[in-house]
Amino acid sequence: MDGAILVTGGAGYIGSHIVVALAQAGHTPIVLDDFSNSALDVMPRLEALGGRPIPLIVADVRDMVALRRTFHDHPIAGVVHCAGLKSVGEGEERPLAYWDVNVGGTIALAEIMGEAGVARLVFSSSATVYGQPDVLPVPETAPLRPQSVYGRTKRTAEDFLRDLTRANPNWRIAILRYFNPAGAHPSARIGEAPTARPQNLVPLLCRIAAGEAPQLAIYGSDWPTSDGTGVRDYLHVQDLAEGHVAALGFLSENAGAVTLNLGMGRGSSVLEVVHAFERACGRRIARVFAARRPGDVARYYADPSAANRLLGWRASRDLATICADAWRWQQAGGRY
Ligand code: NAD
Ligand code: UD1
Repeated sequence: MDGAILVTGGAGYIGSHIVVALAQAGHTPIVLDDFSNSALDVMPRLEALGGRPIPLIVADVRDMVALRRTFHDHPIAGVVHCAGLKSVGEGEERPLAYWDVNVGGTIALAEIMGEAGVARLVFSSSATVYGQPDVLPVPETAPLRPQSVYGRTKRTAEDFLRDLTRANPNWRIAILRYFNPAGAHPSARIGEAPTARPQNLVPLLCRIAAGEAPQLAIYGSDWPTSDGTGVRDYLHVQDLAEGHVAALGFLSENAGAVTLNLGMGRGSSVLEVVHAFERACGRRIARVFAARRPGDVARYYADPSAANRLLGWRASRDLATICADAWRWQQAGGRY
């Protein structure tokens, strides 16, 4: 593909893996990030893993002056838009920030892309837009009933992008709904580095195994699942990153908007993840059963068949690999 790929939020957990996957696939990635939830130290690691210099724009994605300058200064052929706020709990406390960054940021970016004549966009959405699913595995056609401020900002940004494409079919937009990304790059040079206490299962297991957190509270032992604990579709962050490279390739052949689930297509329970993690790290994870977490659902996992078919993409790294790579990253420090 001619031209560079701008990755907003490219210094973050998922964006950093996308930048490396793009570079390894022969693309020229450019990172735009305000470092509100990431560290500058990631940049030399991205350059080392990607094997090329990676231009960096330190800017807020809502800053239209900075965006305009970026599209003027670089020959950008497409955008992967990962910049956003993603904490479910924080979103309930700071709805203004979540709507402004997640929806306002997407509108600002689309406006400047339109000005610059850049039509190709891959958007980071989330399976959280589905809320409580009626049907498993969850297809893209399932009703959208997000249960949180965060989820509603993602649904609205999605609606906006589909509206753009309806009005102007020259847009080429892939909306990717991630299920539960986890794991790290096998080099242990990049990974998830939460600044606050991690809330998600796999980063928590890393901290507990390393002795940095006391024990896992398993949220519920009485869910209607095989072992009573919640079931999710964990996919390796590298598989997820490769899905973005595949989506950009798809958009070079196809105009319009496409909405796709990215997941393994099968679920693992909390206890299955705990056991897989224990095997990966060779240590016992201390745990207790606790009350259900408000807003949680019993189980969901993706129907990824549309992404398999249209993108020729499939998540292939299993739970053992996810746990082994997350643990390797933790042992390398687990932060920047
Ligand atoms: P992250 O916080 O690690 O990365 C987001 C990056 O965006 C960070 O580097 C942050 O500094 C940057 N950023 C935030 N606000 C910005 C702004 N206004 N301007 C410029 N940069 C800004 O999060 P992540 O896990 O890598 O998530 C990336 C995207 O994927 C987000 O849009 C998130 O909602 C979505 N997503 C994540 C998950 C997940 O489990 N991690 C699941 C589904 C969807
Ligand atoms: C959470 C978010 C979701 C977001 C996703 C990104 C909520 C309600 N949902 O989903 O919007 O898209 O992260 O990865 O926050 N668990 C425990 N103990 C813990 C932590 C988790 O038992 O300390 C269980 C949960 O109940 C769940 C599973 O582990 O069954 C996975 O939890 P988590 O990693 O937080 O992901 P989700 O709940 O799927």
